[in-house]
Amino acid sequence: MTRWYKDKKNEYYYKKAKRERYRSRAAYKLKQLNRKFDLIRRGYKVVDLGAAPGGWMQVTRELVAKEGFVLGVDLEEIEELGFDNVITLKGDFTNKETVQKIIDTVGYVDAVISDASPNISGVWDIDHYRSVELCRSALEIATMVLRNRGNFLVKIFQGREVDDFFKEVKDNFTLAKRTKPKASRGKSAEIYIIGKGFKYPKEVGR
Ligand SMILES: C[S@@+](CC[C@H](N)C(=O)[O-])C[C@H]1O[C@@H](n2cnc3c(N)ncnc32)[C@H](O)[C@@H]1O
Repeated sequence: MTRWYKDKKNEYYYKKAKRERYRSRAAYKLKQLNRKFDLIRRGYKVVDLGAAPGGWMQVTRELVAKEGFVLGVDLEEIEELGFDNVITLKGDFTNKETVQKIIDTVGYVDAVISDASPNISGVWDIDHYRSVELCRSALEIATMVLRNRGNFLVKIFQGREVDDFFKEVKDNFTLAKRTKPKASRGKSAEIYIIGKGFKYPKEVGR
């Protein structure tokens, strides 16, 4: 892909998001991922980690509709979406207290999604390791709150730890995939990892 083409594509999604009133271009990544992998359905309860400014929350609310529920968590304040079944929590999800608040708020959920990004240092390895840390926290939260057969989606910056992290996802889910949606910039370091069908031990009865 030429640079010219990439710039055009970014501009395309930027303008589309403005026109369609999504808070981020990232909204289209979730739409594309969900079309392909069917992670979120009507009526689902969903936790969205690293959710500001709220583009994924908007898309998730459309998918779960009024029967579902969305909790968005971010370090930054997220402007309210204006739906009774969408709430936000300001906090660091790598922090125990925030995790406890998430658990207390949602109980069990059908999907955990995370588009969280660390502050970019520009040094590939550092950004990669920080991203993996966020992914591991997201996976840990998923294993605490997902119902049996629930789904997981997480953004990760490519690098040497991806294979190990992918294996951790594989161990916890019936199906694991790596993917890069069209709306994700061609040259960017990010890919998405999907886990479908959380394998929770039956005896606990989630
Ligand atoms: C790319 S943005 C998410 C965009 C969002 N999916 C959307 O569509 O609007 C990444 C977000 O991750 C958040 N983040 C990074 N580390 C975090 C942490 N430890 N706890 C909570 N949020 C975090 C950042 O504050 C940032 O808002």
